Amino acid sequence: MLRITVLVSGGGTNLQAIIDAIGEDRIHNAGIVRVISNNPGAYALERARGAGIDALCISPRDFPDRPAYYEALTAALKEADTELVVLAGFMVVLPESVIREYAGRIINIHPSLIPSFCGTGFYGIRVHEEVLKRGVRVTGATVHFVDEGTDTGPIILQKAVEVRDDDTPEILQRRVMEEAEWQIMPRAIDLIAAGRVEIRDGRTFIR
Ligand code: GRF
Repeated sequence: MLRITVLVSGGGTNLQAIIDAIGEDRIHNAGIVRVISNNPGAYALERARGAGIDALCISPRDFPDRPAYYEALTAALKEADTELVVLAGFMVVLPESVIREYAGRIINIHPSLIPSFCGTGFYGIRVHEEVLKRGVRVTGATVHFVDEGTDTGPIILQKAVEVRDDDTPEILQRRVMEEAEWQIMPRAIDLIAAGRVEIRDGRTFIR
């Protein structure tokens, strides 16, 4: 079984999608061993506990500096014997030490079709505001491996979502989650757990 730690900051709907997919056998040979939030008020923690998953808050505010916080985070990943780190709406930038240590074993979900509407400053509702401002007809979501850059790692799965004339950022955000994020995140985890995702020359190949 692939041991997954999910890092969260907020509502945890992507976490829920993973929990449901494991329960419904859409993800095989994988389990969530731990959920870590940087935010004590994250509803994601309640979702995890409700599902019987070990859930803890490690907040930067409880540490004197960033290195101390990162050290605690790394220790918590190791303590759970984490094999795959899943960033599901985690609003903290991971340090290079963690990215190096878990190279090819950290994935993130981004609410656009990378390389559009990604990179520094493109997170949360802002992504959807910019999508509407630019007037694109298609947006979507991307699951990718995490490297040292912002949204630059090898892409695993993407799914397109239609933009409608009467969309607000909130309506579009919801559609992107329902039609794309909650589908491709569990699917990507299942592919990784099956050993079907290979990284070569900065891109992925699914066998
Ligand atoms: C999602 O839109 C995800 O793409 C982004 O943060 C949001 C997290 O939502 N990275 P949730 O906490 O999974 O509900």
